[in-house]
Amino acid sequence: MEKSRKVSKLCVLCIVLGVLSVATVVTLWSIAATQGRVVTEPWDKYRLPDTLKPDHYNLTLWPRLTANAQGLYVFTGESYVVFQCVKVTDLILIHSNKLNYSTSEDGHLAKLTALGSKPAPTIKNTWLQETTQFLVIQLNGKLAVGESYQLDTEFVGELADDLAGFYRSEYEENGVKRVVATSQMHPTNARKTFPCFDEPAMKAVFHITLVHPRGTVALSNGKEQNVVKTEAISQTRFEPTKTMSTYLLALIVCDYSYVSSQEKDILIRIWARRKAINESHGDYALNVTGQILSFYEVYYNTSYPLAKSDQIALPDFYFGAMENWGLVTYRETNLLYDPLISSNSNKERTATIIAHELAHMWFGNLVTLRWWNEVWLNEGFATYVSYLGADYAEPTWNVKDLIVLKDVHKVFAIDALASSHPLSSKENEIIKPHQISEQFDAISYSKGASVLRMLSDFLTEPVFVQGLSSYLHHFAYSNTVATDLWNHLQLAVEANGVTLPRTVDDIMNRWVLQRGFPVITIDTATGLVSQRHFLLDPDSVGNVPPSDFKYEWIVPIKWMDAGVVQKEIWLLEKEAFHPNLKSVQWVLANLNVTGYYRVTYDLDNWERLLMQLNTNHPIIPVMNRAQLVDDAFNLARAKVIHTTLALRTTKYLSKEREYMPWESAIDNLDYFYLMFDRTDVYDAMQGYVKNLVTPLFLHFKSMTSNWTEVPDGHTDQYNQVNAIRVACSTGLEECLNLTKGWYRQWMDKPGNNLIRPNLRTAVYCSAIAAGSAEEWDFGWSMFINATVASEADKLMSALACTKDPALLKRYLEYTLDSDKIRKQDATSVIVYIASNRRGEKLAWEFVTEKWNYMFTQYGVGSFSFSKLISGVTTRFSTKAELDQLYTFKQDNAAIGFGSGTGALEQAIEITKANIKWVKQNQNEVWDWFLSEAK
Ligand SMILES: *[C@@H]1O[C@H](CO)[C@@H](O)[C@H](O)[C@H]1NC(C)=O
Ligand SMILES: *[C@@H]1O[C@H](CO)[C@@H](O)[C@H](O)[C@H]1NC(C)=O
Ligand SMILES: *[C@@H]1O[C@H](CO)[C@@H](O)[C@H](O)[C@H]1NC(C)=O
Ligand SMILES: *[C@@H]1O[C@H](CO)[C@@H](O)[C@H](O)[C@H]1NC(C)=O
Ligand SMILES: [Zn+2]
Repeated sequence: MEKSRKVSKLCVLCIVLGVLSVATVVTLWSIAATQGRVVTEPWDKYRLPDTLKPDHYNLTLWPRLTANAQGLYVFTGESYVVFQCVKVTDLILIHSNKLNYSTSEDGHLAKLTALGSKPAPTIKNTWLQETTQFLVIQLNGKLAVGESYQLDTEFVGELADDLAGFYRSEYEENGVKRVVATSQMHPTNARKTFPCFDEPAMKAVFHITLVHPRGTVALSNGKEQNVVKTEAISQTRFEPTKTMSTYLLALIVCDYSYVSSQEKDILIRIWARRKAINESHGDYALNVTGQILSFYEVYYNTSYPLAKSDQIALPDFYFGAMENWGLVTYRETNLLYDPLISSNSNKERTATIIAHELAHMWFGNLVTLRWWNEVWLNEGFATYVSYLGADYAEPTWNVKDLIVLKDVHKVFAIDALASSHPLSSKENEIIKPHQISEQFDAISYSKGASVLRMLSDFLTEPVFVQGLSSYLHHFAYSNTVATDLWNHLQLAVEANGVTLPRTVDDIMNRWVLQRGFPVITIDTATGLVSQRHFLLDPDSVGNVPPSDFKYEWIVPIKWMDAGVVQKEIWLLEKEAFHPNLKSVQWVLANLNVTGYYRVTYDLDNWERLLMQLNTNHPIIPVMNRAQLVDDAFNLARAKVIHTTLALRTTKYLSKEREYMPWESAIDNLDYFYLMFDRTDVYDAMQGYVKNLVTPLFLHFKSMTSNWTEVPDGHTDQYNQVNAIRVACSTGLEECLNLTKGWYRQWMDKPGNNLIRPNLRTAVYCSAIAAGSAEEWDFGWSMFINATVASEADKLMSALACTKDPALLKRYLEYTLDSDKIRKQDATSVIVYIASNRRGEKLAWEFVTEKWNYMFTQYGVGSFSFSKLISGVTTRFSTKAELDQLYTFKQDNAAIGFGSGTGALEQAIEITKANIKWVKQNQNEVWDWFLSEAK
């Protein structure tokens, strides 16, 4: 191709320049070294200088949906950016990654013109700085402050299937392969699509035009404004965007259709494969979107800022969804819902993910955090309010309570490690693209959400909402830091006369700037309340870096005495006496788990709580029943209480019918399964759990008239799944007969699957585990044939349940073949296999052998590496396994671990803790299960 030849010439130039600049750096370094500092050129730094400010871009892109003669898919682009000079400079740095530029007549990669009266300086030199991802333009003169300039470029990029930037996704419909060009700019891939100032504070207006084959649809953030058609191609121009960050851009060319509705002035469209739309799989999303948008308009007290809201389901997508402003992209399973074959958990996921993404349309998109070190506020906020949005759309679900399981408890497990990190990092520590990607972890999402929920609770929701809307109004179309939000909440606190022991900023800094969380100890004999940093492994305290706040928090404590709610107290110091807490009955603190901390008590109070659970558990709120189990198990791990005390919190479950406590217990017992399911403890434990779950199984059998009906309650439907899953996995014969029978019926009539959608994951897993290659092969063929992604997902996880090592090995190999398992799903399949006690060793060996391949194939920007590493090492609890981890770390140091770096350190820490825990607890746990299983 013409352009690539020119570019290869240029590359020689940039190598020469590269050598030159290295030489310059070396000399400068030796001078600077004597002065004790290192000098780097501006283009060696990852951050943009503060000399230029973009105003608007004009971008035309043409993705080719068929491969060229070399078998490559490409896109071509023409772009200009108009920017203002805010500080004198003779250098233009603009982000660019993996783009090849055409050269102008004078041999440069870009063209500069002045828009004011003074002429622009001429270009001295241009080159691509690959490491820092810049297009560098050196000028012969200086740009003038206050003047505007226009920078023009023409370029070619690859439309690769790498799920980053402007990329290619493929699917099959009616036996025909279809290609979609779509985009994922967030966090740093806009620069892989066109040259741009690719930092969130560099907001600008984007004028986008897409060239695309006739008959296809082009979509972007703005509404389609003008479509020009020639015989073969169309050219769609979009309304200019609002002033916004580069990472929120979206560009799509596809052959999709849509369903739409109008909510006041907003056009709402749900886009998907034609077949999915024809079969009405977009209807649920369409229904809830209008409701959720209206909810947020009231909640934020700000109208939806755009004229339209498009949401689209993509066949290949690493992330769950992405909040591009006005054109939100989703994994298919997260947007599409088929009432005939999707489960209620699929439905909940659709509602909450839509609510999460739409929450960003204001918080994140309209007002944007200045830099990636405060990602937690953006993600934590959207996660928190997604429960409110989903609750508005589905008021009967009690979905707001579930945050305790899905976020609070989940993230406690990670945040209790010495290797955890604070919510917020220092701005200068998060610079490289992989450091930015690493910010998108459970701490940001789930701890962020938990801490904001606590804040909203102690401010009260109306005050929280008032501060929030004042923040949004004040900073619309610009950028902020977290302190800006605290300040606006403080104003609302003062306006409403709320009494707080400290300012919002003071209180929040404790939770945001230091890692971890406290365990509160309440001594009901003396009324002494104290706090300390909760570490899952108390011996890891030496590995915890110092904190400016000495690991003390400002803690709001809501509590009850013998079932009666008492006045909230605050713990401001390490310890304090609160005489009200002296009780002869039982004290229960952290009501509804609104506080981000764990609680323990003197032993007598623990005994009284256990007694209450065993005699009349409904007096204790359901979220707190889940909390008592979760706190007890984790306190036992941390050696605050005895392991048998934790196990005793599960005994009352034979009478418990609610989902949350059951789920909490199953999660915690899961740790015992992971540690012991390859040991002698396993059988005794299975016996105990089987006895515990049998009454629940029979309860649902009768509630559903012998499994012929669906329970009414949303969480009852969840708990029915638990009942079947646990009963079958502990070998309850009646359960196994049931699931094997259902699966056999389906095998006999593949066109007629009568298994209830909610129960499918559990039933498939149980039947494939109990079955042979015949059951597995049938499952695989139905997986291949599945046209609904959520159904495919259920089979995908169930196929990992087989007990046959040969089948597990075969399944692992399939992850290397993207025709069998899509790249976006490869990590999940490996992790599913690792969660099977017969598959974990195979999965670990597989990952260590193929690390290089995976690391290069699955895209370093993806955050599934951390899931992969933690997933394949969850059972690690022996010295030999720890050594394997060290070897793995050493062997692959040169390749790197990308977004899995933190997860690898965590895996090492967790394995060490597991080794100790197993040694200390194995015999006692075995004895306890033996005596209880009788
Ligand atoms: C706890 O949550 C339940 C259910 O969401 C709610 O009804 C109750 O009022 C809450 N209790 C407190 C003390 O906030
Ligand atoms: C459930 O099945 C049992 C035995 O097959 C039968 O005795 C009972 O009446 C059935 N219950 C319902 C509600 O159909
Ligand atoms: C399970 O099925 C087997 C074989 O059909 C049968 O003998 C047994 O009684 C069944 N068990 C229960 C508990 O239904
Ligand atoms: C899979 O789908 C194809 C085409 O729709 C059909 O011919 C085939 O019988 C299906 N296979 C199974 C096992 O249902
Ligand atoms: Zn988000």
